[in-house]
Amino acid sequence: MLSIEDNERLTRVGPGTPMGDLFRRYWQPVALSETVSKPDGPPIRVRMLGEDLVLFRATDGRFGLVAERCPHRTASMYWARNEENGLRCVYHGLKFDVDGNCVDAPCVTKTSEAQLESLQRQLKIKAYPCIERAELVWAYMGPPEFKPAFPELDWTLVPTSHRLSTRHIQECNWLQALEGGFDAAHLTFLHKGETSHVSRTIVPTLYEVQQNDAGFYTATGRDMGDGQIYWNTNALLMPAHKIISAVAPAAHMWMPIDDENTMLYSTEFRFDGPLTEKDLERVRGGKWIHTVNLPGTDISIRNKSNDYLVDRGAQATGQSYTGMQGLGIQDCAVQESMGPIADRTQEFLLPCDIEIVKIRRLYLQALDDMASGKPLMGMTAADYRMRMERWFAPKGDDIAVMMAERKYGKMVKAGE
Ligand code: FES
Ligand SMILES: [Fe+2]
Repeated sequence: MLSIEDNERLTRVGPGTPMGDLFRRYWQPVALSETVSKPDGPPIRVRMLGEDLVLFRATDGRFGLVAERCPHRTASMYWARNEENGLRCVYHGLKFDVDGNCVDAPCVTKTSEAQLESLQRQLKIKAYPCIERAELVWAYMGPPEFKPAFPELDWTLVPTSHRLSTRHIQECNWLQALEGGFDAAHLTFLHKGETSHVSRTIVPTLYEVQQNDAGFYTATGRDMGDGQIYWNTNALLMPAHKIISAVAPAAHMWMPIDDENTMLYSTEFRFDGPLTEKDLERVRGGKWIHTVNLPGTDISIRNKSNDYLVDRGAQATGQSYTGMQGLGIQDCAVQESMGPIADRTQEFLLPCDIEIVKIRRLYLQALDDMASGKPLMGMTAADYRMRMERWFAPKGDDIAVMMAERKYGKMVKAGE
């Protein structure tokens, strides 16, 4: 349970809010590269942290991410012409480069060169630096003096053939979506029926959460009843990354579109070789954590407006616990059902919510650190090199020791 004040602090992400400022201190994905692949191609709309923006790839291949509103008379830059390393508003022809400078103002006539230059200096459009990594376009929306190095997430460092990402919108606040990603107990219920894997049949009873320099990593243990514990580890790295210990490892990023909508990125990757045909079919087929989206959108075909195409018959027979198909959809259904922003003053937390409690503490601590000018977690690129695993160990083996042996929280070089 949280106070109203803390719930507000943690969930609001618009400009000038504490959590909005915290997110803006990190690099975050804003688009799949394939949606803006052509230099001088059509710009695309991006809504991120409550800001309406337009993304374009300039003639020289660089990206521009600018405010959607033209600074002249606020027409949308989505309709702009993408030409010769700049975006030209189609209303009166003002042109801006990727850094937001006005580089041409053909509607301004009968003025001196000096006056024109002065006007162009004042007529900047808001622009954020972008970088392309792992077939995604990432932006940094914070103060330039705090811009960190790009995080060395393992999955961004493998070759292109070794990874594939999808994304879909969750119609709810980012925090309840992320909390669902670290809720180990729900796997045994919400996702039951998808597989007969042990993580879908046994409720975890053992938890270990340890902090590292970029966030924390958590281990959940399931008692197999034969003297063995099945351990499963996951990491939460700032601002909203999850490293998942699946068989083909996977990663999530919950990126706030605004207070009430979240873009969930889901990546599968392999260290030792390209994704297999089976992996590719799973990702492209919208299975497991992925979704099949309405053409040209990030909205799943199975969504809130059509009750996620629930099959009550399949639910009644037990073929599926929910009657909904796909882990990603099942997560959407419950997380969106909590309301656009979950009211955490109404909760009754249980021992199985320990990771959720730690997540909230981590973010509240980060907000306090930022407010008092202390260094933030995740500012060193190498802190992001974390690999998660699953393993069996005899009951009684110390999880803290096992985690230390596995070098969690320390840099692990690719290929190690
Ligand atoms: S509104 Fe964009 S140039 Fe006038
Ligand atoms: Fe889930």
